[in-house]
Amino acid sequence: MSDTEFQPISLPPTVFYPPFNITRASHYIQTVRDLDVSKAFYCGVLGLLVSDEDAQTVYLRGAEEACHHSLILRQTTGAPECEAIGFRVLTEAELDLAYDWAVGQGLDPHWIEAPYQGRTLRLRDPAGTPVELCAHMPVLARRMDNGGGRLHLAKRLDHFQVLNPKIDACTAFYAAIGFRISDVIVVEGALEACFLWRKGSVSDLVLMEGDGPRLHHAAFFVRNVGDILRVCDNVGEKGFAPMTVEEGPGRHGMDGAYYVYLRDPDGHRVELFDGHYQTIDAELPPLQYRPEQAAPPWGRPTLSSWFEEGTAFSDTQKITAPRPRNAPTMEGYVRGKSR
Ligand SMILES: [Fe+2]
Repeated sequence: MSDTEFQPISLPPTVFYPPFNITRASHYIQTVRDLDVSKAFYCGVLGLLVSDEDAQTVYLRGAEEACHHSLILRQTTGAPECEAIGFRVLTEAELDLAYDWAVGQGLDPHWIEAPYQGRTLRLRDPAGTPVELCAHMPVLARRMDNGGGRLHLAKRLDHFQVLNPKIDACTAFYAAIGFRISDVIVVEGALEACFLWRKGSVSDLVLMEGDGPRLHHAAFFVRNVGDILRVCDNVGEKGFAPMTVEEGPGRHGMDGAYYVYLRDPDGHRVELFDGHYQTIDAELPPLQYRPEQAAPPWGRPTLSSWFEEGTAFSDTQKITAPRPRNAPTMEGYVRGKSR
């Protein structure tokens, strides 16, 4: 028996036949202050592959990814931001269904020019998060783990986590377009975090209550905990600051995955983790946890920065979350030890 304690709260029903078919987390766009330094970080530490680049933009993908890019880095002279998070839909026709649905919802969707993505639709969720949808990309060679894989540790983009001030409304929004819920964290009968998925694992999108919307992190899959340690060694060997490793290595409380969270040279957070469990069977209910059940089973508390800091989305109003977070932090732990 699991020791998970269920605290039933009302969650949106599963929509098995949504108005259009999103298939997975696909890509995201970050602006950076020094393109060469950021490229050195993502290629040298994570081992991402360069699909294309010019003086202003670098297109990157994980070693196992056949589609053109999962991370776009764009040079900026301003503050580093996230332009959008992106999801794939199954076919071109789904884009038209998505457009019609979004118009019907009053979401003001619009088509944008996005190289290597075909037609791309932009809209915003109820918190204002810029989301883009595309149906295809050029196919490139995968770099399978046959020896060369040892250099290319991040295999594929897996999910986004967003600090979200309207978690109930956004959970309902994503559920209505077919996202299913694997796990929720509940505090005093209210959602603190919601893990939403389309591809059959734990998450494509995690909503965590907080001021925002802001991108908390994007996560790439690595093979095993050894590769997580190799990523950390790369941080040191490539000359990035020790505090680039913000949290972990550690083990997640809910799914048991090993993880590490890094801050890139602009402060954008990226997670490396070694896998999730399967969720796709229709009868599986969302699992509900209290925060202490969801916390890592060992290790010191997390730095307050992990809870409080994130990347602003471009041209997006920041909204204050309705409930303050009250999690144990490393700073509180240290203060307690000094007394
Ligand atoms: Fe994550």
